[in-house]
Amino acid sequence: MNLETAVKRYFKAKGLPLQPALTFSDIVIKDSFSTIDSRSDIRNLRTKLAGNLFLNIPLVSANMDTVTDAKMAIALARLGGLGFIHQFLPLEERVKEVQKVKRADNALIENPVTILSTAVLGEAKACMAEYKISSLLVIDEANRLLGIITSRDYRFKDDPDLPVEKVMKRMPLVAAGPDVAREEAEAIFEKYKIEKLPLIDEQGFLKGMVSAKDMLKEKEFPNAVRDEKGRLLVGAAIRLNADYLEEMVQLVSGGADAILLDTARANSRRVRDAVRNIKNKFPAVPLVVGNIDTPEAALMLIKAGADCLKVGIGPGSACKTREATGVGIPQLTAIASCAAVAKNQDIPIIADGGIRGGADLSKALVAGANLAMVGSLFAGTDESPGEIFQDEGRRWKMYRGSASAEHQFDRLASGSLEGLRTPEGVPRRIPYTGSVKAAVEELLGGLRSSMSYVGAKDLDEFWKLGKFVWQSRSGYEEGKPQE
Ligand code: XMP
Repeated sequence: MNLETAVKRYFKAKGLPLQPALTFSDIVIKDSFSTIDSRSDIRNLRTKLAGNLFLNIPLVSANMDTVTDAKMAIALARLGGLGFIHQFLPLEERVKEVQKVKRADNALIENPVTILSTAVLGEAKACMAEYKISSLLVIDEANRLLGIITSRDYRFKDDPDLPVEKVMKRMPLVAAGPDVAREEAEAIFEKYKIEKLPLIDEQGFLKGMVSAKDMLKEKEFPNAVRDEKGRLLVGAAIRLNADYLEEMVQLVSGGADAILLDTARANSRRVRDAVRNIKNKFPAVPLVVGNIDTPEAALMLIKAGADCLKVGIGPGSACKTREATGVGIPQLTAIASCAAVAKNQDIPIIADGGIRGGADLSKALVAGANLAMVGSLFAGTDESPGEIFQDEGRRWKMYRGSASAEHQFDRLASGSLEGLRTPEGVPRRIPYTGSVKAAVEELLGGLRSSMSYVGAKDLDEFWKLGKFVWQSRSGYEEGKPQE
């Protein structure tokens, strides 16, 4: 055997590639003859998330405690994307976050927030603050509508022990039947200048509510993604170490449209068995599974029943996995090799981590991802959890890896973690960047331009037409704006 063959064999046996694994900066997208005159002609960015779930833009927010709770999920769904409520909240709180999203912008609310007439003003105020609403329907023990209490009813009343029935506006209120048509509701709002329209049956039992503000919101966000009842879409993460089936039951009944089985390494027997178990019990619930970075893992999870794969081990901006463990394939190779297996089975891929702008997003999609998951670019926005703070004359928000020591300390303190692991993430401060809408528009602006360079009018064409060219380090440097 000659030396070259021996080396090749050895490399093959060790899994060492003769071609190196690549990441975003190692390649560029080749432009090609385009019949698209302007990037503004690209209007369709629709993509599949899982099963029958489609989004209108290829962006989801990271399931991290410094990125996604209800506020981020609402903002993204309004823009056409989706947020995954993170797994580090106790289950009841995760369910509440999901419910907040399902209630937002939802003109027809099946289960409006209510209060008993025997409750007191303090409770009513706390309830309104929790759900960020300005009125509550008042019911009796049997769920019969008795009245409504709005913040205007208690403007001059401070006594927290005052019974709600002493403050509320009593029946008869303007109300409609449970099957009220949209146009009918609009006409009632116009005529009576009210904000909330309770829906009651003939016996006076509360059956739902229509909100005027939310009806207008539906018009304000035409690109929003909604379920068949008109409610915004939302995802939620479940934990492998917990009673994941119970978590799934509660989150799905709370309204979650997609469930994410969130693990740092999904290429394992435990995850495979959990996926089989989940799909056995809930075949119809779209299940996203992650994270992986090899085609073998992709195939294994698809066979087990996953409806979408989340790809990325270590590319995230707050990740230390590769530094701490030496494991994790550069992200472009990871995406492309998982896509090689998943594309022909129509299983979507989420490219998770390392997206620094429109160029990386475009490259991830050409490589075969259907969507990208974004952490740091959304962490500095108004919609991420956490406070803005000032330092060195600038405004910042905190962003931290889910496996960072700081995050683990918090979980230990709250009793949701039993022991510390070697940290695989870091905390960082991120410049405050304003609304997430601006961050999304910047990413999509880059993507649309990239699509127009390639001549693709939608994302499927972008993937089919898009080809890469490897670039040298100096080629990459050349492409950066000079100081
Ligand atoms: P970006 O680059 O958008 O990445 O900030 C977000 C993704 O990073 C992953 N993530 C981690 N990875 N250790 C890791 O190795 C961590 O502590 C950690 N926290 C988050 C996660 O996939 C997220 O979506």
